[in-house]
Amino acid sequence: MKPATFLLTSCTAAAAAAVAVPPPSSSSSSSSNTRIPTSYESAVLARRILALTPLGTLATIFPSNSPSTAEDRPSSVAGMPHSLMDYISDCEPVSTGNPTLLALSIETTFKNTAAGSNLSIAVQWTPPHPPPRSLLSSLATYFTSASPPLRYSPAALPRFSLLGYVEPIPNGDDRTPGAPGAALAKCFTSSHPDARYWLPGNRIHESHFVRLVVEQVYWIGGFGDRAFIGWIPVDEWRSVTEEEWQAVRLPGEEEGALLGDL
Ligand SMILES: *[C@@H]1O[C@H](CO)[C@@H](O)[C@H](O)[C@H]1NC(C)=O
Repeated sequence: MKPATFLLTSCTAAAAAAVAVPPPSSSSSSSSNTRIPTSYESAVLARRILALTPLGTLATIFPSNSPSTAEDRPSSVAGMPHSLMDYISDCEPVSTGNPTLLALSIETTFKNTAAGSNLSIAVQWTPPHPPPRSLLSSLATYFTSASPPLRYSPAALPRFSLLGYVEPIPNGDDRTPGAPGAALAKCFTSSHPDARYWLPGNRIHESHFVRLVVEQVYWIGGFGDRAFIGWIPVDEWRSVTEEEWQAVRLPGEEEGALLGDL
């Protein structure tokens, strides 16, 4: 069996598309058999990443006015971008695609949004299973020496940013049984059990459930010869169904999957 045939018959169709590149002698193109996903297919992957990923990086802009004495920030950060890790969740109806956040009033991020800043959330796919070194991936690397190596590379993994503005979720802080806040608290603490200590109404910190109203989506699916890179139309982002994102799999999501083959 020729090695190329071995590669083709050993993988799923999708994986084969990524590794079924000709040996260096037969063609200079390393991506002739690779179909780059559409923006919609990328939106489905992005919605799965949002559903499965508990953390994101929230970016805001400091107000341009000078801080009052009550506001504890250097005046020189006026207008500067500010990014911090925070908890994210996918707790609102799937037809919105708006991440749910638990905004603590003492957080700089939410001080900035209260002062009028927009918000961007960066989300990256982190595979739960470290990629195995295998004969298959070694062969694939050997036969594709002209393209990026098909072994573990964070640059090959999908990530995206959601851009928009923060708004409160109506009755999101009402945690009486049956109220919107009760469902949000249950959903949010299912991925963030520790957050039960700072849910709305706790005695330590003022907090509120808010949403990022997504207005723009920027996606980097991985290397550009096999992944879509660019702006995903927001109507595509919003129209992804749960059935669709449940049906796809991400690189390294399943144990034994070869990252480089995806
Ligand atoms: C927020 O973004 C919108 C565009 O969606 C823009 O018109 C507005 O000026 C921005 N707000 C601030 C405070 O930068």
